[in-house]
Amino acid sequence: MKLGRFELKHGLILPPIAGYSDVGMRMLCIRYGAELTFTEMVSAKGLVYGNENTRELLITHETEKIKAVQLFGREEGFIARAVQLEPLKKFDIIDINFGCPVHKIVKSGEGSALMKEPEQVYKIIKYAVEAAEGRLVTGKIRAGWSKDFRNAVEVALAIQEGGGAMVTVHGRTRDMLYSGFADPGIIKEVKDSLKIPVVANGDIADRESYLRMLSATGADGVAIGRGAIGRPYVFSEVLGKTVEYDIGELLREHIEELLKYYPERVVVNNIKKHAAFYVKGRKGAKQIKESVLRAATVKEVLDSFAV
Ligand SMILES: Cc1cc2nc3c(=O)[nH]c(=O)nc-3n(C[C@H](O)[C@H](O)[C@H](O)COP(=O)(O)O)c2cc1C
Repeated sequence: MKLGRFELKHGLILPPIAGYSDVGMRMLCIRYGAELTFTEMVSAKGLVYGNENTRELLITHETEKIKAVQLFGREEGFIARAVQLEPLKKFDIIDINFGCPVHKIVKSGEGSALMKEPEQVYKIIKYAVEAAEGRLVTGKIRAGWSKDFRNAVEVALAIQEGGGAMVTVHGRTRDMLYSGFADPGIIKEVKDSLKIPVVANGDIADRESYLRMLSATGADGVAIGRGAIGRPYVFSEVLGKTVEYDIGELLREHIEELLKYYPERVVVNNIKKHAAFYVKGRKGAKQIKESVLRAATVKEVLDSFAV
């Protein structure tokens, strides 16, 4: 897949995952074959107002050869101002969130609420592209708002018209949240309607679901979200490569990366969520999970895994 001056061999992407796709997770996903990784979604307004917690989300890893940030917001002016801020200058790609289904976001007319406003989507992308001065702007959308309102093609075309460089489609509507299944049919419709690259997203977790999604949609790439939490090696697995890894070691590296930037207390809290996924399917998982939950220090987290 060609994306501006970048070439992705397989189109393997780690999408934004708020609360998870931190710099540690992204570093590990890159190691195992992800070719493009996104920060967690970042509030355009938060950035413009100089919110410190918001800015912390912009940390990137040196192995992220293509740096990609995701912004959310509904006012084109704020998005454009955020794009022009100094801390965003290092990013090659600025993705805009049109898919977040969370009530707090939707009630402000942001995230997937914008699926109902293709004209506003067009405006946001156009302003962002102008402000980006050559950096790429992309969009991430859902199938639509509800089963009676599946307008992914219209919104994707608005992104293309506005100058967007790529569209990622999660094949669920907003009202499905994360229930049911992502529909490859709507992703194919988008792919067949656009000239710019289209990335298929939803429920890819192994080689079988990866191949099924590719053949059903003809997409230029795939984004693997939940399937990569606690399983950064999934990007190798989908290509049929055998990988060796030690879960305890992955967790340790993940923690060490986060400790470069955040206080231990914050790292322990964040890593607990990841640990529950790292341990999945492992012998003694229940005990390890309980022990991790009780942990107050990094050492206690790691000791829990050393059984
Ligand atoms: C906990 C969680 C947080 C997410 N955060 C974001 C986000 O910040 N931005 C975004 O565009 N999508 C976000 N998503 C959606 C994922 O990127 C992805 O589209 C969705 O999970 C479907 O793909 P999957 O089945 O591979 O996980 C999030 C999903 C989950 C479960």
